Amino acid sequence: MPGLTPERHSLMEQARWAARNAYEPYSGMRVGAVIVSSGGRMFTGSNIENASYGISICAERVALFKAISEGEREFSELAVVAEMESVEKDAAPCGACRQALQEFSPELKITYRYGGVYITRRLSELLPEAFTSGAGSG
Ligand code: THU
Repeated sequence: MPGLTPERHSLMEQARWAARNAYEPYSGMRVGAVIVSSGGRMFTGSNIENASYGISICAERVALFKAISEGEREFSELAVVAEMESVEKDAAPCGACRQALQEFSPELKITYRYGGVYITRRLSELLPEAFTSGAGSG
C-alpha cells in the first residue's frame, strides 16, 4: 500500500482481516475497521446487516462501540477497508460514523482508500463544524 507508514499499513491489514467477519447478505460489501485507543488498545469491527435494512450498522461504529463498552474514551487512529467480491473498494467513513466518532475524538486520524489511493485524514477535516452538545465549547 504505497504512501502508508508501516504502522498504518499494519492497521489496514488488521481492518482487512476484520472484514472477513462482515455479515453482508444484502449489499455484498464487506467492510472492516480497527480503532486504536490513546493507550494503544485495538478493537476491530465489521459491518452487520439486517433484513430490516435500516438497523444495519457500519464496521466503524461496531469497532468504536466495542471500545467504548470496554471503557475506552479517546482514540488516535482508525483504519477502514472495504471489499466487494474480493475486490478492494474505496472506504471513506459514512457521515453517521463521522458524527459518532467525533463525539469522542475529533482529531482522530483515519486511514482509508479513496479514488483508488490510500490517504490519512483528520476527522475534523472530514466533519468540519460538527454538531456537539456544547459541553466545554462555550
Ligand atoms: N458500510 C460500512 O460498514 N461503513 C461505511 O462507512 C459505509 C458503509 C457498510 C454498511 C452496509 O453494510 C454496506 O457497507 C453497504 O452500504
